[in-house]
Amino acid sequence: MPIAKETIWERFLAPLIRPLIDEKGLQSFYDSVDWEAEADRFRQPNLEYPEYYSSQNFHGVKGGYLNPGASVSYDPVTQYVLPPNETWIRQGLIDRLCGKPRRILDLGCGTGSTTVLLKQAFPEAEVIGLDLSPYMLFMGDRKAKQAGLRIQWRHGNAEHTGFPDASFDVVTASLLFHETPPAVSQAILRESFRLLVPGGQVLILDGNQKTLRHTEWLTEIFEEPYIKAYASGNVDAWMGAAGFEAVETYEHWWVNQISRGIKPIPGVEINATKPSYQQVEADFSGIPAPAFNTHASC
Ligand SMILES: C[S@@+](CC[C@H](N)C(=O)[O-])C[C@H]1O[C@@H](n2cnc3c(N)ncnc32)[C@H](O)[C@@H]1O
Repeated sequence: MPIAKETIWERFLAPLIRPLIDEKGLQSFYDSVDWEAEADRFRQPNLEYPEYYSSQNFHGVKGGYLNPGASVSYDPVTQYVLPPNETWIRQGLIDRLCGKPRRILDLGCGTGSTTVLLKQAFPEAEVIGLDLSPYMLFMGDRKAKQAGLRIQWRHGNAEHTGFPDASFDVVTASLLFHETPPAVSQAILRESFRLLVPGGQVLILDGNQKTLRHTEWLTEIFEEPYIKAYASGNVDAWMGAAGFEAVETYEHWWVNQISRGIKPIPGVEINATKPSYQQVEADFSGIPAPAFNTHASC
């Protein structure tokens, strides 16, 4: 697992986290997998990797997510960098989701930690995880199988997924936008808008932009090439520019935020300060692909 040396990650964070991690176990798992054969199960041969993605190290890992080692170390490290508790942080996104979606797309799904929670929360929904890294998809697939869940995995670019218009009730992305340049995050939001049915929701869980703006060390320590640009932006504004309404961002503990936007239903005004499931749901009559069933509330 090649790790770049002398990074801030190596000097400060790795020494704290490393003793908590079973490195030998991870290495022996890494050695036991035929990575290219497994990646071939997911790989779309014609997929072109965007330059921002293939040219950068992430978290001090050379080659970023196109290095299979990144997919092995991702979960063991992430559990320690999402205080106060990784599952609780991820569950916050699901708790902000209104209604009972039938098709959910998790963009930049990585090793599928949020994707799995989505499927567990909505077992009847068709859940698809999409990522640029076939190695991360392999780990997600493995995790879903271990949990006995049927999730589909798609090797693709969240900026242009290839799915038809209005084919999802919910689109999510967790911990993706701090790793993409703002122009890419905005393109992903425009793609999410295209993919959603009217009344469908986009939910973005990521670093708290306000907190990150005021804590320089946080933007330095994780070895993220685009995190400063992310911190200086505004997901609310990006959602509004993509066409979403009733946009709201909730502070989620101190270091995270959850943003939600709703794709407008033609002719229906969505209350910007108090999006109400009832209000959205009540107006689905006549719309061919209703986004939600009836009994949930926001
Ligand atoms: C920090 S990880 C987050 C993974 C997962 N969503 C989570 O919550 O743990 C970011 C993921 O986004 C993926 N990614 C980055 N840019 C992408 C893009 N344009 N399209 C699809 N996936 C992308 C990376 O391969 C990586 O797996």
